[in-house]
Amino acid sequence: MWLTFITGVLVLLLAWDFVRKRHRVTTFKKFKITGPLSVPILGCGIQALSLGAENIMPYMAGMFNKYGKSFRLWVLDECIYYTMDVKDYENILSSTTLLEKGQIYRFMRPFLNDGILVSKGKKWHARRKVFTNAFHFKVLEHYMEIMDRNSGVLVEKLRKVADGKTPVDILQYVSLATLDVITEAAMGVQVNAQNDPDFPYIKALERVVYIQPGRMLKFSQRYDWLFSLLAPRLHRQLVSDIRVMNDFTDKVIHERRTTVERAKADGSYRPLALGDAETGSKSKLVLLDILLQATINNEPLSDADIREEVDNFMFAGNDTTGSGTSHALYAIARNSRIQQRLFEEIVEVLGQDPSTPVTQSQLSELKYLDCVIKETLRLHTIVPTVGRYTTKDLVLGEKVIPANTSIYLVPYATHRDPEYFPDPLTFKPERFLEGEAESHATFAYAPFSAGPRNCIGQKFGTLEMKCLISKVLRYYELLPLGKELRPMMNFILRSSTGINVGLRPRKL
Ligand code: HEM
Repeated sequence: MWLTFITGVLVLLLAWDFVRKRHRVTTFKKFKITGPLSVPILGCGIQALSLGAENIMPYMAGMFNKYGKSFRLWVLDECIYYTMDVKDYENILSSTTLLEKGQIYRFMRPFLNDGILVSKGKKWHARRKVFTNAFHFKVLEHYMEIMDRNSGVLVEKLRKVADGKTPVDILQYVSLATLDVITEAAMGVQVNAQNDPDFPYIKALERVVYIQPGRMLKFSQRYDWLFSLLAPRLHRQLVSDIRVMNDFTDKVIHERRTTVERAKADGSYRPLALGDAETGSKSKLVLLDILLQATINNEPLSDADIREEVDNFMFAGNDTTGSGTSHALYAIARNSRIQQRLFEEIVEVLGQDPSTPVTQSQLSELKYLDCVIKETLRLHTIVPTVGRYTTKDLVLGEKVIPANTSIYLVPYATHRDPEYFPDPLTFKPERFLEGEAESHATFAYAPFSAGPRNCIGQKFGTLEMKCLISKVLRYYELLPLGKELRPMMNFILRSSTGINVGLRPRKL
């Protein structure tokens, strides 16, 4: 009797699996899009979900080697088309209709809700418009003081480990600095993460951005109901951390709203405008103010709307810049010629006294540093994959990608393709001088993605990286100490061995 029941359930499951996958399977076959052998229901899930974060990029490289510049993969219920083909990038990234994110982004939803990173359609469009002005290069001047001051705290914090012989996992320090910058720029509050790394909001954010990507790679945690059942402690931790983050953001929004309302009542309120930076206004513009002033369809945003966007910026603007800056410092430490050239440029443009604050226009003169950052983001692509989701069949050149497929572009792989970047594993900032590397093929270089859904914080992030890197180099010589990188995929690129450098104070 049990055997009959189990056989019946199995037959039903197989039939259900066959029916729901049929269109996708036949379309892939028709257009000769191949990939690793898949079994019913599980697809390649067992293999893919047992890889571990360190093995994902080598696994993908192996697949591209075997199947060419694109392949398909079934992971349980998710059908994925991976591509490193620049022609696909062009079609996908420049599309104004294919804007929905891949299924994997659902792991971001518990803490990002339906904010700008994950939302779609009219909602995304309206919010994106609100933010566009906030990242105008003229507005960025407002953030310079925040970046410079926090870079100063960073070099102070590094002093106690800068003995010229101890390897330092630089990400541990840099990520607190980038957290201080983004919290102040997004919310206008100082959490002093560098001085108080145990601040509850900071601890909660740190844990959430580790727990959630870890879940992508474990069958037992992939689905919310299984996760709460099989990992109840971790699930409780996640729920409690998200509550801590929400409470903190709510409190900041409430305080800021009250301040604005009080200022309106006593007549001292002056709405912030794009031109403020140009006119030399010292008022500090933060993203939160832009959201408090914004209207969509003549309606102001609710506190819940504002919170979700602030959380999105806290996530998108922190780990990325922290990882990018740390990878750059790592690469500089291991290339003494590059370090020397960079240091000379920094002293020439910014002067001998490392404590002098920098300006945006000075940073824009650091052309070689620009190339070093670009080369860092090529070789160590901080966002290794960018995803989309097809809600209907999508024509891509000669082939068709069926509806209900997640598409992942893999700039990490394209950036290492010798067709576009000769000698791809060598760190060579010079390839970006005079735009040489960028001219190979539009879209071959896309560390910030491209098209309508590109990174809105690209200029902010680059400015911040320049500010942090130049400050560290003005105070310290970087040394090639500690373990080498072991790239690890965890929403963004990390390293399981840390991002290690040595530091020796410069004679000032
Ligand atoms: C080195 C630093 C950074 C890198 C490499 C980077 C990279 C990216 C990439 C590749 C995307 C597209 C993601 C996707 O389509 O799934 C993206 C989106 C985004 N980034 Fe960045 N980012 C960086 C810094 C920042 C900063 C500093 C901010 C904010 C202050 C920011 C805010 C955003 C937002 C809001 C989006 C979503 C845009 C949209 O969907 O309309 N990013 N970023």
